[in-house]
Amino acid sequence: MSTIKIITGDITKITADAIVNAANTSLLGGGGVDGAIHRAAGKELLEECKKLNGCETGEAKITKGYKLPAKYVIHTPGPIWHGGTSNEPKLLEKSYYNSLALAEQYGCRSVAFPSISTGVYRFPLEKAAPIALKTIQAFFETSHHVQEVQIVCFSEQVREVYAEALAKLQ
Ligand code: APR
Repeated sequence: MSTIKIITGDITKITADAIVNAANTSLLGGGGVDGAIHRAAGKELLEECKKLNGCETGEAKITKGYKLPAKYVIHTPGPIWHGGTSNEPKLLEKSYYNSLALAEQYGCRSVAFPSISTGVYRFPLEKAAPIALKTIQAFFETSHHVQEVQIVCFSEQVREVYAEALAKLQ
């Protein structure tokens, strides 16, 4: 029985098989959740990321979790919001799908996502939440390993948007 949970918290503290990093295409760290994950994982994470030669928007790459409680970090650059007519919705869907596909490939049972692209990349939260949840729910129809997905929101306000979007889905 696969489940989606919406919680408020700090994703660097989450004990899941994999946590997802809202990265940029360089994969060399940044601010926001990217900065928090790199700080918590330690410098070995950046050393491994340097060998990955970046990542295209919507694609995903996996590394070890190092000092994080999570075994893996899945790095995905979400789209930067340019008004919604530059394929942003499709690219955001790809970020969630490709992260889940990698988690499945690595035999992960539990995966935790931040709210990808809705911070620095300015993707409107009310548009991002349904895209994220629909993509996760559709993935569950074919997944064998991934059974539990958490959306880890950094504030109660963000959690409420995802919780409302999830309620509308069911
Ligand atoms: N745990 C969970 N969520 C967090 C954390 C954390 N420790 N820190 C920040 N967030 C939330 C933000 O509040 C926001 O809701 O993650 C969401 C995504 O925001 P950003 O981190 O700004 O990511 P994004 O909008 O995808 O922009 C990515 O920002 O940090 C840089 O290197 C990153 O260039 C990339 C860009």
